[in-house]
Order: sequence, then C-alpha cells, then structure tokens
Amino acid sequence: MSVPRSEYLSNSWKDGIFANRVLFITGGAGSIGSAQTRAMVHLGADACIIGRSVEKTEAAAKEIAKVRPGARVIGIGNVDVRSYDSLKSAADRCVADLGSIDYVIAGAAGNFIAPIASLSPNAFKSVIDIDTIGTFNTLKATIPHLIQSAARNPNPNPAGTTGGRFVSTSATFHYTGMPLQSHVSAAKAAIDALMGSVALEYGPYGITANSIAPGAIEGTEGMERLASAKLDKQTRGKHVPIGRWGSVRDIADATVFVFSDAGNYVSGTTLVVDGAGWRRQGAVAVGVDEGMEYPDFLLSGEISKHLKSGRKEKAKI
Ligand code: HXC
Repeated sequence: MSVPRSEYLSNSWKDGIFANRVLFITGGAGSIGSAQTRAMVHLGADACIIGRSVEKTEAAAKEIAKVRPGARVIGIGNVDVRSYDSLKSAADRCVADLGSIDYVIAGAAGNFIAPIASLSPNAFKSVIDIDTIGTFNTLKATIPHLIQSAARNPNPNPAGTTGGRFVSTSATFHYTGMPLQSHVSAAKAAIDALMGSVALEYGPYGITANSIAPGAIEGTEGMERLASAKLDKQTRGKHVPIGRWGSVRDIADATVFVFSDAGNYVSGTTLVVDGAGWRRQGAVAVGVDEGMEYPDFLLSGEISKHLKSGRKEKAKI
C-alpha cells in the first residue's frame, strides 16, 4: 500500500512545480530522506536515491515511484558518501539516466550516543567522515551539474521553475553543545559553515545552499538512537514549545519550500524545523531515561540502556 500524501506533504503545494527536474539525494532510503524524496517526486521531480545498501536503496526507489504515475526513481546502492569516487560515478549515472541534477540533498548521516570518555578517535572520525566529509563529497560530485541547472533556471525565473539548489542535513546540538553528542555537534557545525561558503562561492552562478536542521522527529532511525524507548510517548512532546515531536512531513515541507520558487532568496542559512526545541536545552532528553539528571548521569557514567546502539559486535571499545 502506498504512503498517503498527508504523511509526507502538506496541501500547500501545487502539483507539477518540480516537473522535468531531478533530485539527487544521499540517505534517500532513510525515514526523513524518503519523505523528502516522496514530496519532491509527488510534485513532479524524478529522483536518484543514493545509499550503502543495494537492496534497501532499490526497494525504497520502487516504493517512492508509486507516488506519481510516470515517475522515474532510481536507487543507486553500494555508494558510501565517504568515497568521492563512488559518489561521482553515482552522479554521472544519474545524469546519464535521468538527464540532469537540479536539486541535491546531502542526507546521509551517522549517529550514536557516547560520552567523550568512551568515544574512540576512530568513532569521532567516523561521524565526521560520514556527515561532514560526506556532505563535501556530495557537493563536489554534483556541483558541475547544479551549475548547469542554475544556468537553465535563472533565479528568479518568470516561469517559476527552479534549479541549482543544495540542501544539507544539519542538527541543533552545536548551538548550545550537547552531552553525549560531541561528534555530531562538531560534524553538523562544520556542515553549516560549509553551506555559508558554498552560498558565497556559487551564489554568483545562481546556486542556493542551505542547511535544514530537524529537531526530534517521530519514527526516525536518528531518534531510535538518541532517545530512550522508555520515554513516555504522551508526555515527551510537552517539553518542546510547540507541544510535540516533529513529523517527517515537517522536514519534507521545509525542503520543498527551499527548492521551490518561494525559496529563491533563501541562501547561506539554516532552516531550523524543531518546534523551537533547541531554545529549551534538554527539551529532548538525549541518551537518558526519566529521572537521569545532568550532570549526575555523566559523573556516574550512566546512560539509557533503551537506545538503538547500531554498534557492531566486534567493536574494540
Ligand atoms: C561508541 C561506537 C558506537 C557506539 C560505533 N562506534 N558505534 N562507539 N558507541 N554506539 C565506534 C566503533 O567502535 C568504531 O570505533 C567506530 O565507531 C566506527 O564504527 P564502525 O561500525 O566500524 O563504522 P561504520 O561501519 O562506518 O558505521 C558508522 C556508524 C554506524 C556511524 C558507527 O552507526 C552507522 O553506519 N550509522 C548510519 C546510520 C545512522 O547512524 N543513522 C542515524 C543518523 S541520525 P573503533 O575505535 O572501535 O574502531 C542523525 C541525527 C542527528 O544523524 C541529530 C538529529 C536531531
């Protein structure tokens, strides 16, 4: 059964606004990535979904293509964003098969809960490699295509069509610092800084570059890793000013905005989509259960046992 529109796209957008355009997305088979892709494909785009797992990536592409008759969605698996060469091949294949790359989302990310005390240098480096270097590699592999797209779609374009747009996936932890998330905070801060430079260097070509920073989003792999499964689902949203965790649709709608004719003058910035959660540090209890207070849990070395670790059996520490 296909996913109902209400789960990945609001009614604010007009069908066809991304017709004859192509989205290239890393992490497009993930929970947030597939909602972003569904929304773009629903509104007319074709898409190339890039991922590590061949099976997962191809299956997601097939599912997402169902949102619009005639949609072309290609899953390109076996691509690790830490490898520039494999991303470059994926970008070239995308253009060969679908004709262009007009929008890019650097969505692939890695995360787990760990205090600095149990974060090995390689663990820190792994997240920097996936998030920061992965975003840079994605940019390098696609920017020649985005330049061409921006040239075909001047900003603004009287026809209302757009192209030449880059969005990276950030977070809000580095605004305040976040215990157990030093690796992700550093990686995402670097991504935001990179977007500023991209906006300056490529703005004159008509390209826009922005980060989207999601807060706590329901039903995502990220929150399975960050928030204890024991936290009461009814009350946890009360800590967020807007009163709930976000939905993948909230992020998809923000992405559509930045890529659309309505987002022409938005560049070099971060669009925070978190219900104002970051303004209340600790609105989302990262890595702890009810009753585990800062700084006691750090001093006692206690973190929640109800998190998805994602760690392999053979890990050294
Ligand atoms: C401490 C850990 C760890 C854990 C792995 N490591 N898991 N250390 N606690 N739970 C360490 C390992 O011991 C190893 O260090 C190093 O990290 C690399 O681990 P590998 O498994 O060899 O690396 P790799 O196969 O490349 O996997 C990368 C990964 C993994 C990040 C560790 O979890 C992964 O592939 N994640 C992708 C999916 C994912 O994380 N999705 C959530 C994204 S959400 P040593 O020293 O032993 O060699 C997200 C949200 C941001 O980013 C915030 C939003 C609000």
